[in-house]
Amino acid sequence: MKKVLVINGSPRTENSNSYRLTKAFLKGWQEVSSDLDIEVLTPQKMNIHPCLGCYTCWKKTPGRCVQKDDMTEAMEKWQHADIILWCFPLYFYSLPTQLKMFMDRLMPSKRPVMQERYDGRGYGTHTTRVDQSHQRNILIATCGFFTSKGNFDAVEAQFDLILGRRNYTSIFCGQGEMMPVPMHQERVEEYLGYAVEAGRDYGTYGIILPETRKKLDEYILPKEDFVALGNSYYAHCEKKAREREAAEHTQL
Ligand SMILES: Cc1cc2nc3c(=O)[nH]c(=O)nc-3n(C[C@H](O)[C@H](O)[C@H](O)COP(=O)(O)O)c2cc1C
Repeated sequence: MKKVLVINGSPRTENSNSYRLTKAFLKGWQEVSSDLDIEVLTPQKMNIHPCLGCYTCWKKTPGRCVQKDDMTEAMEKWQHADIILWCFPLYFYSLPTQLKMFMDRLMPSKRPVMQERYDGRGYGTHTTRVDQSHQRNILIATCGFFTSKGNFDAVEAQFDLILGRRNYTSIFCGQGEMMPVPMHQERVEEYLGYAVEAGRDYGTYGIILPETRKKLDEYILPKEDFVALGNSYYAHCEKKAREREAAEHTQL
């Protein structure tokens, strides 16, 4: 069996747009691979505290954190998985707190010893305590803008440095907030179908084929329609909020 560890970094947990996209990918993958043992970790629901920066895990108790929380078991699972699937929303062009906190807490898995790196990304790296060189990584994320293009540059730079230059497969999807909109479910389902295809590709070839990639690069809605819909929706929300405030003020 191949151990697949999904880390759902969205604070929305199961209601996450990114997780819906991830489930579609996993569905396709499972259609062509019967040997997947999938486990999902959801940092938002776990008892995880931020890294204290004390370096105890490097100096006094090598490989062990002073904090006793869910991260001990989570790190074991992360170290021994065959594939890690990082699922998350884009927050300020970067990772949500829940996922960043999870990552920081992986520090005990690294050895302090520094070594050169040769992939042209940065100038130093650390070795790991457990050999993870066989592991593959997948990133599946959504963002709020009409396109993912350019918006994930910081994320790619970060994962290049952590995992090695483009040493991962990624799906970055714009218009994430279209996922739950009832009136556009037909198009959303069509788009999710592309993620299913991507999962099948990955299970069969270990990559997402160019023709599937082309479909994933499509916008869910045309840019103008999406921007008009988003702007009118939030204008409506603000109007309602002002009306509520006015009503509360009158009651006082
Ligand atoms: C705090 C916060 C920061 C965000 N920052 C960005 C951003 O920098 N760029 C972007 O395109 N969308 C941004 N978004 C929108 C989310 O990425 C988008 O709604 C996403 O689909 C949510 O995914 P989820 O349901 O998986 O959590 C942000 C949302 C929040 C709440």
